[in-house]
Amino acid sequence: MSFFLIQMNFEGKDIISIKDFSKKEINYILEYAKEMVLYAKGEKYKGILKGKVLSSLFFEPSTRTRLSFESAMNRLGGRSIGFADPSATSQKKGESLADTIRMADAYSDLIVMRHPQEGAARLAAEFADAPVLNAGDGAGHHPTQCLLDLFTILTEKKRIGKNKIALIGDLKYGRTVHSLAYALSMYKAELTFVSPATLKMPKEVVDECIELGVEPTQTSSIDKVVKDADVLYVTRIQRERFPDAEEYNRVVGSYKINNELLQNAKEKLIIMHPLPRVTEIDPEVDATPHALYFKQAFNGVPVRMALLSLVSGGKL
Ligand code: CP
Repeated sequence: MSFFLIQMNFEGKDIISIKDFSKKEINYILEYAKEMVLYAKGEKYKGILKGKVLSSLFFEPSTRTRLSFESAMNRLGGRSIGFADPSATSQKKGESLADTIRMADAYSDLIVMRHPQEGAARLAAEFADAPVLNAGDGAGHHPTQCLLDLFTILTEKKRIGKNKIALIGDLKYGRTVHSLAYALSMYKAELTFVSPATLKMPKEVVDECIELGVEPTQTSSIDKVVKDADVLYVTRIQRERFPDAEEYNRVVGSYKINNELLQNAKEKLIIMHPLPRVTEIDPEVDATPHALYFKQAFNGVPVRMALLSLVSGGKL
């Protein structure tokens, strides 16, 4: 039976946090995203979003999220307007976030926003009639990244649950791993959190995993984890979120994935990373069959096409 027979309505919905979705809804979005892959590659075309305008508001730097959202919009026949440098906007003259959002709402049908303040996306949604898609709010949520991560695991491993998945690196400040730990627990994946002692997964995230029936293992040592893992999800130590440079210098370079470390890894191990990477994955790993991070980044396009289409009420 085609999943399209079980229609779900997301029209007008804001995408703020993965916690706003049930597992059924996530499954639906992921199935829809699978249908979008050929459209994302430009091998098929349907102007589902023809005539629609996306406001792309990036108050923080981005390569993948902004470009893949804009690509997704274009691939479905829509257009995007916006900015990647807030210093070139009237925020510089003291305009409030609420007023900037009111303007984007007046000029467009959909709003995607990245902002350094946790909670900014939820606030923006209060001032906009158009659906707001959170492209990352400080150390808070990055739901579309979480969905593309789930999509990558699902398409590579044919299932999300029952995989041994290690989240590695900056688990304290990394917003992607907070959303992902929660979502993977919904699927009962076997989780290991690997981080320096000062960058451990926040207790509230661990507690949420436990409430969802998953008891994550926590360690600072990566060596033993690599041998058993089905997925290594590596993250960057986020310099921009550290209150002082000394604390950052103490932990930067804590983990480096290289071919030597991968010698005893499972043949089908996949390595993911939300990117950008700095030093945590040696470029020599790129040539191995384990390296999935560039394909993962591409997956942002079909997943974001699915989301833009669903919240617009468009249909394939
Ligand atoms: N993964 C991710 O959010 O990448 P960008 O910061 O480049 O958007």
